[in-house]
Amino acid sequence: MASLTVRKLDDDLKARLRVRAARNGRSVEDEVRTILREAGEDAGPPPAPDVAAGPAVPSVAPRITLIIGGGIAAYKALDLIRRLKERGPEVRVILTRAAQQFVTPLAASALAHTPCHTDLFDPRSEFDAGHIRLARGCDLVVVAPATADLMAKMANGLADDLASAVLLATDRPVLLAPAMNPAMWTNAATRRNVARLKQDGVHLVGPSAGEMAEANEAGVGRMSEPTEIALAAMTLLKPAATPLKGRRVLITAGPTHEPIDPVRYIANRSSGKQGFAIAAAAARAGAEVTLVSGPVGLADPADVNVVRVESAREMLAKVEAALPADAAIFAAAVADWRVAGAAAQKIKKTVDGLPDLKLAENPDILATIAKRGEGRPRLVVGFAAETENLIAHARAKLMRKGCDWIVANDVSPASGVMGGDRNVIHILMRDSEEVESWPAMSKQEVADRLVARIAQSLQ
Ligand SMILES: Cc1cc2nc3c(=O)[nH]c(=O)nc-3n(C[C@H](O)[C@H](O)[C@H](O)COP(=O)(O)O)c2cc1C
Repeated sequence: MASLTVRKLDDDLKARLRVRAARNGRSVEDEVRTILREAGEDAGPPPAPDVAAGPAVPSVAPRITLIIGGGIAAYKALDLIRRLKERGPEVRVILTRAAQQFVTPLAASALAHTPCHTDLFDPRSEFDAGHIRLARGCDLVVVAPATADLMAKMANGLADDLASAVLLATDRPVLLAPAMNPAMWTNAATRRNVARLKQDGVHLVGPSAGEMAEANEAGVGRMSEPTEIALAAMTLLKPAATPLKGRRVLITAGPTHEPIDPVRYIANRSSGKQGFAIAAAAARAGAEVTLVSGPVGLADPADVNVVRVESAREMLAKVEAALPADAAIFAAAVADWRVAGAAAQKIKKTVDGLPDLKLAENPDILATIAKRGEGRPRLVVGFAAETENLIAHARAKLMRKGCDWIVANDVSPASGVMGGDRNVIHILMRDSEEVESWPAMSKQEVADRLVARIAQSLQ
């Protein structure tokens, strides 16, 4: 309705509206909505925007970090800033050193309405690790033009300038708009890098075929048009759906600590990151979430009821107390054994030999809940963390535990999964012989996709 209203306005009004929207850091549609809302509330005329103070209302717009690489198509990236902003997002711009040969930081800053960034070692922004803020304080990173050089750096994890450091540090979705000479695009090295990046879960728009900037050159390598890139970005930014609204979801995360005596314990290397990410994603999807976590150094996710425990037995008690639930996801790395009869006082080192520690089996939380008759969640999902024979062990676990799905991940030290920020998962389901293997992605992305999959199965 807002866009209909805008289209019908005369040119002068439209121009004034655009200026007002730009000053307030809003899209034209959002500006119209704000004016209509304020009029509806009979709040009198909207206050004049205080340009020096920035946006008049706290912005809830999605945020995009746009990296402009050093290619001829960089001039189109200036238009892309406008195309993105007119759709609502805030845009923060990074220019590589090479990009500054093609467009100026001043032009990019003026269009973005905020100073752009060019230097990894800028004392004005790096006093508090500004590159991490640029990497994570956004909802999406767009690279346009994505040069052959930037893609090679990304594919190999290099981080020797601001753009590549941000790309390595981000855990947000990344959209690349490649642009280069067709010979560079078809070069075996670029083919390898593109394949690797796709496998890493990076999104691409283009390149398209057409005339090159170089005389008499044509082929595949032209950057997609700014409107196409903006559309692809907006698709990735779609407002979070709430497919789990009205559902109760129970999640476990982290290790357990099994006491030997009051100061010592048996533990494992689980960081809890994957379980916490799933809890956050389920909450974003609208679920009422209880997260029962072993000892981890992670902050409570927003809108999640977090219950902190130490041992496996405590975890089982809290899990049972959190039922009923529509879905239960057991991502915790629960210790299989505890020390039988943990000492009440610190065990002293003696010259007589080693302490006689005996192990006892811990309760099997996943099997206990999966095999429950009454009050069994409709969907019970276990995690299998294995260091060898991943799929075979996961299939055996699926059968043994009586759960509906097993999410298998390789936690051998070489995988970097335990404690790391990325994961490669395989989903095995009780009623299917097939294994659904996902490419490597951030634990946050795994969580989002897993939650979407869970919502689908609960429909
Ligand atoms: C006139 C000119 C045009 C260029 N156009 C492109 C291009 O379209 N795509 C590309 O990948 N590299 C292009 N390059 C090469 C890059 O600028 C070069 O690889 C640079 O190191 C990229 O740096 P960046 O990836 O940090 O931005 C061009 C170089 C020049 C001199």
